[in-house]
Amino acid sequence: MKRVGVLASGGGSNLQAILEYLAELGPQAQAEVVVVASDRPQSGALVKARAAGIEAVALKDRIPDEEEFNALFDEWRVDYIALAGYLRLIPEAIVDRFKDRMLNVHPALLPKHGGPGMYGLRVHQAVLNAHEKVTGPTVHLVTHEYDSGPMLAQWPVGVLPEDDAPAVAARVLVAEHALYPRVLHALAAGEADRFPLRPDDGYYANPPITPDQIRRDILGAFGADSG
Ligand code: GRF
Repeated sequence: MKRVGVLASGGGSNLQAILEYLAELGPQAQAEVVVVASDRPQSGALVKARAAGIEAVALKDRIPDEEEFNALFDEWRVDYIALAGYLRLIPEAIVDRFKDRMLNVHPALLPKHGGPGMYGLRVHQAVLNAHEKVTGPTVHLVTHEYDSGPMLAQWPVGVLPEDDAPAVAARVLVAEHALYPRVLHALAAGEADRFPLRPDDGYYANPPITPDQIRRDILGAFGADSG
């Protein structure tokens, strides 16, 4: 069983999706979340972790501190790290320690609309400003720069003419919640050969595909047993 640490700054809906997916897998789960840490003591992610009986740690330093991370990940014997709405740059030594074992989810199709300062509704506003017809989550490995590591999976989500940024965010989040836990679990289960995963260009030929359909398609891509 691989041990996962989650870092989050915000509401923690991706954390919740990860916990629910691993719970659904039951005895077939090959990963478990052992610790959740946040730079924001009041973050919803810590509340959700506590509710699930998982160790919830408010980081002492708001600026990420290499020693604090090392001590935490040693204490909890963490094998993989999932960034779930964690807004700060991870110290380089920690990125190196978890090379190919640290993932992030970004709510746009990288390399577009990523990088420093691109988080929250700003990402989706940038998508609208660029008149994109398609956006969607990217799950990628973490490297020394924001949003730049090798892509593991992307999923296209349509942008509709009447959309504002919150509407795009909500639709992308449905796909994030389906995609991120499955990518994390597959990676931890040693199924790296699945990646990179991206539906072929024909997928989005007939918009609008509904969020429910997107969700079902993602589940299908990971096989019927993936919950
Ligand atoms: C998500 O949109 C994710 O893509 C981004 O930050 C947001 C986190 O949301 N990295 P939540 O805290 O998981 O609800």
